[in-house]
Amino acid sequence: MKELRVQPIKNGTVIDHIPAGMALKVLHILGIPDRGIGSIVSVAMNVRSNVMGKKDIVKVEDRELEPKEVDKIALIAPRATINIIRGYEVVEKHRVKLPKEVIGILKCPNPTCISNSREPIESRFIVISDNPPRVRCYYCEREPDDIASRII
Ligand code: CTP
Repeated sequence: MKELRVQPIKNGTVIDHIPAGMALKVLHILGIPDRGIGSIVSVAMNVRSNVMGKKDIVKVEDRELEPKEVDKIALIAPRATINIIRGYEVVEKHRVKLPKEVIGILKCPNPTCISNSREPIESRFIVISDNPPRVRCYYCEREPDDIASRII
């Protein structure tokens, strides 16, 4: 029988299969607690998982995620699944998937990169691998090795 750690939610989004220890980064991406409308949020950390050993889970009630937020989550939790819950049922489930390029969601580590200049140029990275996530700057070809801390 499945152990129930955190209550099922009625409506909202469950982000499952987050690598253990990354839940707080996911909350940060979602702007919790600074931004947002004070939705109810539950977090389970280091939950046992068949496929991952240990995992984290984040449940946000009465909120669905924006595509940019999902792309950011894909950069730190490449196996995460996004479950949309309505009336206690999982009505949609998909695994995060990085697009071919990510624009305006990572800051280039190269201080002389044109995306860091005063020009109004958004950062742009080519995705070279999904899992583990690896990206290369479209402008200066720098490959950040600390993607999680580069998320804007
Ligand atoms: N969940 C929830 N509230 C609901 C329904 C589901 O919080 N009303 C959560 C479950 O606890 C689980 C996730 O949403 O963390 C996905 O639910 P479900 O698809 O039923 O679980 P699994 O089959 O275990 O998912 P997967 O196959 O993706 O591992």
